[in-house]
This record gives sequence, structure tokens and C-alpha cells, in this order.
Amino acid sequence: MKKEFVRVISQKEIAHQIFELKVQGEVVAEMTSPGQFVHLRVSDSFQPLLRRPISICDVDLSNRTLTMLYRKEGTGTALLSQKKEGETVDLLGPLGNGFPLDAITAGQTALLVGGGIGVPPLYYLAKELTKRGINITAVLGFQSERDAFYKEKFAELGEVFISTVDGSLGTKGFVTDVLNNEDINYDLLYSCGPTVMLKALEAQVPDADGFFSLEERMGCGIGACFACVCHINGGEPSDYVKICSNGPVFPIGRVAL
Ligand code: FAD
Ligand code: FES
Repeated sequence: MKKEFVRVISQKEIAHQIFELKVQGEVVAEMTSPGQFVHLRVSDSFQPLLRRPISICDVDLSNRTLTMLYRKEGTGTALLSQKKEGETVDLLGPLGNGFPLDAITAGQTALLVGGGIGVPPLYYLAKELTKRGINITAVLGFQSERDAFYKEKFAELGEVFISTVDGSLGTKGFVTDVLNNEDINYDLLYSCGPTVMLKALEAQVPDADGFFSLEERMGCGIGACFACVCHINGGEPSDYVKICSNGPVFPIGRVAL
């Protein structure tokens, strides 16, 4: 983990309120584990004070460039969306533990299920898994066609199914509807998205082996403030994990959703 002022290479809106931000810096050399995240200070004035956690979406290690995708939502991401080419961003990372890549072997199939802004970390994961000879099937869920992104980029790596809540693209409904409608065979499940989606997925495929990446509100991002604690399934009320430092990736079923 390092703290570095990385340089903005480009920033563009690729879907409704979804921004693709590319930055360059030496710290990118450490970003070898898909599922990890970075913590960004979004303004030079320390307002807002807290950094914002954003997933590593793609990395070019030779050019030291990192791609992040984020939804412009509140104060922090609105400020981030104003960053221009040539400006710097104060980045702390990489943080957390990524998706295990050795839990699946060449020739097997990984099912990647992403919801909304949970999709970005799955792209780097898909690239790394395909490099290792693992087949990819991706199921990506969005609210509407205008919110959808990276469909073509995932399609370069494997089979892709899309769901939208309003039915404007792909299957009408949720990622769980795609799994109901399609006959998808897989060996391991990797997923990232809103807790409500992970919960529905866990109920739908209770026997699936795999990993969930959780998005929890964070303070410090490095295990010091207890803002992100979650309870462990079957544990004592006093048993907990910190999403930032023990996660954000956990084996399915470990954390109470
Ligand atoms: P505000 O609502 O003004 O934020 C207020 C506070 O709440 C901030 O401290 C903020 O960090 C926190 N917060 C708000 N929503 C969330 C949330 N859903 N999860 C965690 N903290 C939240 N978003 C993306 O768009 N792209 C990503 O790749 C991405 N990766 C993430 C990876 C991890 C490990 C986590 C925990 C969250 C990730 N998020 C991602 C969610 C993103 O951090 C929040 O949407 C963002 O912090 C909102 O900040 P804001 O100032 O715009 O909103
Ligand atoms: Fe501070 Fe996790 S965000 S302990």
C-alpha cells in the first residue's frame, strides 16, 4: 500500500452518470489483485474529509495506468467527476484482499455476477481469469439501458448476459432472473453488487462455491475506525469482520448479509 498523487490521463462519461477515470502512477505496479480497491481524496481542500473507496477496474502494469469506473452520486463523486486531464488525485492503495484466482483451474468456468457499480472489479477479474485459461460467463445487471456499461468489453472475454430492471436491454428484471431463465453451468461464482442483490443470489444458489465482494460504507479504509464491520454467519454477536481490511472479498456465506 502506498499514498501517491497520481496523474489523471483521461476522464469521460461512458453511461448515464457513470465515469471512466484513468490515472497513471508508480503505485499501479502494486495493483495485481482484482477485487482490491483504492481510497481517493476527492478534493485538495480536505472537504469532504473522508476518502472515497473505488474498485480497481483495469490495470495496465507496463504503462502504470489504472482505470476506475464510478457513479456520480453524492458530494465526493461529483467532485471527482470534475478532475481534468493533467490534474492529480491523492490515492491510497491498493487496499483490501482481492478475489482468489487459484480457487479455479484452467478449463473450468467462472460465473461473474455484477450489479450496477459492482461490475467494475469483475472486469479486471475476468481479464486475469481468461489469461489463466478459465472460461468466463458474465451476468451484469443495471437499472436501464442508459446505465449499462462495459457490455462489449466483457463480450471480448466470454459470454455475457444483461438484465435491466425496466427491460430496455437484455432480460427484464434482475440478475437472478437471468439465472432462472438461462441454463448456465459453472464451477465457481464471483459476485459484486448491492447487498440486496448478493442476498438474493445467495438464496437462489445456496450450494454455490465462490466469493462475494461487499460494498460497505467506510471511514479509514485500513482497519482502524470500525466503520465497516459486519457480523459473521453463525458467529457470536461479538464476532465480526472489517470489510476494508479483512475483505472486501469473502467466501460466500461467511458474512451475514
Ligand atoms: P455520499 O453519499 O455523499 O457519501 C457519503 C459517505 O458515504 C462517504 O463517506 C462515502 O464513502 C460513503 N458511501 C456512500 N455510499 C457508499 C457505498 N455504496 N459504499 C461505500 N461507501 C459509501 N462506487 C463506484 O461508483 N465505483 C466503484 O468501483 C466502487 N467501488 C467500491 C469498492 C468498495 C470496497 C466500496 C466499499 C465502495 C465502492 N463504491 C464504488 C461505492 C463508492 O465508494 C460510493 O458510491 C462513494 O463513496 C459515494 O461517495 P459520494 O461522496 O459520492 O456519496
Ligand atoms: Fe475503518 Fe474499515 S473503514 S475499519
